[in-house]
Amino acid sequence: NGVKTLKATAKAHTNIALIKYWGKRDESLILPMNSSLSVTLDTFYTVTTVEFDEKLTEDVFFLNGEKADHTDTERVSNYLRAIRKFAKKHLFAVVRSENHVPTAAGFASSASGYAALAAAATKAIGLNLHPQELSQFARLGSGSACRSIYGGFVEWQKGVKEDGSDSFAVPILHEDDFPIAVLSVMVATNRKKVLSRAGMKRTVETSPFYQGWLDTVEHDLSELKHALELRDFTLLGEIAERNALKMHATTLGANPPFYYWQSATMEVMEAVQNIRSQGIEAYFTMDAGPNVKVLCLPEDEQKVYDQLKQIPSVKKIFTCHPGPGVTFLPTGE
Ligand code: PMV
Repeated sequence: NGVKTLKATAKAHTNIALIKYWGKRDESLILPMNSSLSVTLDTFYTVTTVEFDEKLTEDVFFLNGEKADHTDTERVSNYLRAIRKFAKKHLFAVVRSENHVPTAAGFASSASGYAALAAAATKAIGLNLHPQELSQFARLGSGSACRSIYGGFVEWQKGVKEDGSDSFAVPILHEDDFPIAVLSVMVATNRKKVLSRAGMKRTVETSPFYQGWLDTVEHDLSELKHALELRDFTLLGEIAERNALKMHATTLGANPPFYYWQSATMEVMEAVQNIRSQGIEAYFTMDAGPNVKVLCLPEDEQKVYDQLKQIPSVKKIFTCHPGPGVTFLPTGE
């Protein structure tokens, strides 16, 4: 009928940082204080369809088939505003997201969520972006989302410019190039979490330990990239574990102090150290929440799984591997 549909569907996976992004130098453009490096995971993902429509008078957002609440819709709508402005098309959209991430279990979905939304929305509105530009759009939704544009091992280069034009992710190793296993260990949790946005801000503004983080994180990053080059799993695990501990240490120095761990988190950390003392290589890392990600080699994943499963406060373990970057799916028309 000659009417061009402004519709696209994209799929993006979550990622886990081996070198953490912790602290912003610009809150609105989401520019980080430090560069970071993550591995995209194959198990958890978001599929999002965006359709712009001139008949709409506001944006509508459905999450897992249900109309989202005001706060979530506002966040998506604010995000779409940036894309409309860039594309110079003032159209509202219907956004439908299916989260294949156990969010209720405290696993973050913002990375896969904003990577999928950025990809679907920019394509639907007619922009044909290079992945590097797409990564910048994803960053505006949630910092860690910029890394989920690519599969495998991905670096987010912090950039130096004020406008953020040099702050985006770059692929380091393809998902098939370094087979590792990441066990996502979900623990019993009872406390309300400090959102990463608020936690970072408080740490940057008040923690005397934050400078120590900044003084050493770029060195951790270059060492980790060296470990990737050599496919040296031991080195990778050791650096990732100590970088995670260092990030979490900065929160203890904040005012008021806070921490993301719970007793179950510590139990898993200790179990990992115990597994290691048996000669099996396993390392842990945690993001802004109590769940633990355990890194090991694929040939050891069953042994590690079996031992962690015995901890009473461990509720569920998801076995993940390096996964793919953003892909576009048929929209069904
Ligand atoms: O992208 P955000 O705002 O959810 O922040 C992510 C922060 C950490 O997960 C703690 C670290 C990281 O690099 O993913």
